[in-house]
Amino acid sequence: MLSSYTYNMLTCYHINKGNHMKTLAIISQKGGSGKTTIAVHLAFCAVLSGKSVALIDIDQQGSTIDWFKTRKTEHDLAAIHTTAAALTDLILKAKKGGADLVIIDTAPHSAEDAVIAARSADLILIPCHPSRFDLKAMPPTFEIVKLVGTKAFIVLNRCTGQKIAENAKEALESQGFPVLDIFIFDRAAYRHAVMDGRSVHEYEPGGKAALEIDQLFAFIKGKIKL
Ligand SMILES: Nc1ncnc2c1ncn2[C@@H]1O[C@H](COP(=O)(O)OP(=O)(O)OP(=O)(O)O)[C@@H](O)[C@H]1O
Ligand SMILES: [Mg+2]
Repeated sequence: MLSSYTYNMLTCYHINKGNHMKTLAIISQKGGSGKTTIAVHLAFCAVLSGKSVALIDIDQQGSTIDWFKTRKTEHDLAAIHTTAAALTDLILKAKKGGADLVIIDTAPHSAEDAVIAARSADLILIPCHPSRFDLKAMPPTFEIVKLVGTKAFIVLNRCTGQKIAENAKEALESQGFPVLDIFIFDRAAYRHAVMDGRSVHEYEPGGKAALEIDQLFAFIKGKIKL
């Protein structure tokens, strides 16, 4: 796994000593909540805003690295498929290489790996469907957040309506979970764009999906002072 992508990751950045690289971890113990979708879209959005980004995929499924390998255009974006054990070292290398932002995509049902990713992060994002079963599945992920003490927010993903999203937000907040006001809707663009390694910004520039990812990225940027 640690092959040519490590090399790419370590060599594609201009040396930028003393940079203030930030790390964002996308975690959720619930499968299919949108971790990879959010990770790759935020990564490309950050690139569009002029940042050097390293995507680190510690999920065995390797969906993020698959997306990256399918891409046909090169940007200031690198990606690596690795294990949680190698994470600290790789984050350090990305920093030395001059990356501005590291985004870690994690696996569901792997609490130990999620803890390692969460500990490494300046901010944690937790995608969650606004549906009963998904809301009920939030506590294990928040156990991890509590354990590490890193700031974390739920982002409601695949929302099928404003009211549904607002109700889910209220339900989660009543349990003390912080939820963003920015909702990511269920849009075909997210599924279509990634088919050939694109982002919604490339698939449908200025579209609704791209605009909501812009909003999400603007929030993150402000939070971690990127
Ligand atoms: N906002 C969205 N609109 C439409 N489809 C979406 C959206 N977010 C995710 N999807 C689709 O939902 C499925 C699951 O998303 P994704 O793979 O990003 O979840 P995940 O949390 O990374 O899953 P896993 O836990 O298996 O790693 C994918 O088919 C993806 O294309
Ligand atoms: Mg995934």
